[in-house]
Amino acid sequence: MSGDARKAAEGLGYLSGFGNEHSSEAVPGALPEGRNAPQRAPLGLYAEQLSGTAFTEPRAENRRSWLYRIRPSAAHPAFTRTSNGALRSAPFDQTVPDPNRLRWNPLPEPAEGTDFLAGLWTLGGNGDVTQRTGMAVHLYHATASMDRVFSDADGELLIVPERGGLLLRTEFGPLHVEPGHIALMPRGVRFRADLLDDSARGYVCENYGAPFRLPELGPIGANGLAGARDFRAPVAAYEDVEGPVEVVNKFCGNLWSATYDHSPLDVVAWHGNHVPYAYDLRRFNVMGTISYDHPDPSIFTVLTSPSDTPGLAGVDFVVFAPRWLVGEDTFRPPYFHRNVMSEYMGLIEGAYDAKAEGFVPGGGSLHNMMSAHGPDRETFERASAAELRPQKIDDGLAFMFETRWPVSLTPQAARADHLQQDYDHVWRGLERHFRPLH
Ligand SMILES: [Fe+2]
Repeated sequence: MSGDARKAAEGLGYLSGFGNEHSSEAVPGALPEGRNAPQRAPLGLYAEQLSGTAFTEPRAENRRSWLYRIRPSAAHPAFTRTSNGALRSAPFDQTVPDPNRLRWNPLPEPAEGTDFLAGLWTLGGNGDVTQRTGMAVHLYHATASMDRVFSDADGELLIVPERGGLLLRTEFGPLHVEPGHIALMPRGVRFRADLLDDSARGYVCENYGAPFRLPELGPIGANGLAGARDFRAPVAAYEDVEGPVEVVNKFCGNLWSATYDHSPLDVVAWHGNHVPYAYDLRRFNVMGTISYDHPDPSIFTVLTSPSDTPGLAGVDFVVFAPRWLVGEDTFRPPYFHRNVMSEYMGLIEGAYDAKAEGFVPGGGSLHNMMSAHGPDRETFERASAAELRPQKIDDGLAFMFETRWPVSLTPQAARADHLQQDYDHVWRGLERHFRPLH
């Protein structure tokens, strides 16, 4: 891709803050003042509301935006079914849920000309899209920019690039993300993904449930973890394009396509809080012990999608970012664990401190409900004998999608050539050290 595209992407301006009531106009005077729907919207635009939550959800959770656009979204022909490619949706009931620890290598190379949407490959998930519960784990590997527009009625898309920059051209304006950043595309928001490098690879959590929000901080206090002001939302920018544009809509698990006679990325001004945003994971304010033991990994939660049970997330997005380990008389790598929650882990760069090998950037592991996991033998032996000086973990960026329900696999994930056949070997050779006193 051209250096010009990257330069333009790097020069973009943003609005700052998570969940704010933002407003932006690409043309002065396009945003009405004092009301949402004047008799005639400014500059001959159409006013349209996009509701991400029910009208009557509590104010703290309510998400909606007002868009001022060249044509209303309603001006489109009928959608017809199109191929789902390798994209699958909940309920995931085509395989028997698997209690084994599972690990995959990165996706194989895609065909030439594969765009972000065609490059999406579903590993599995839980819940039901028609009930707006649960989540899906997807990976993507693309080699071409999109010349079509996509939106997802089934959930929001948390995009975690691992390789290659993306310029996401959204209804609200452009967002630039690189590996180490995340982008969040809210339910129903249309966008196109342009590649800034020869290829792009990464992970997507499709969250069917309540929109991601920042976790409560409790006794941590008013600051810490992901800072609200470090989230960036786009400023308004629009395409004034007449002519055929393919628009693909994911609805109740299937892709539907229509050819519009104009670009639907034609929003000249907007205001609201149902907006796409991006965040640089390296800005995460990592917290941990300064005495002994380390806290549960929930201390690394960037975003959470709550359920109707307090503290029980539909899905948490958790990052393992560079940090100091200083715990005294403490086994410092992640502990051995069995968890009612199910854990999908991916690696953005470097290495993860519980696995000496086999867990590679672009790959992933799944430790389903109550499956036993933890450090491998080499890591255990090394960490048990290590001199406990302050130690900087600075060579990796890993993340976890942690979800309340088991993750069931798609048939393509269960039978994939890139599914490792020997993952259990990681825990082979953990020797008996027990010596009863006598
Ligand atoms: Fe765990």
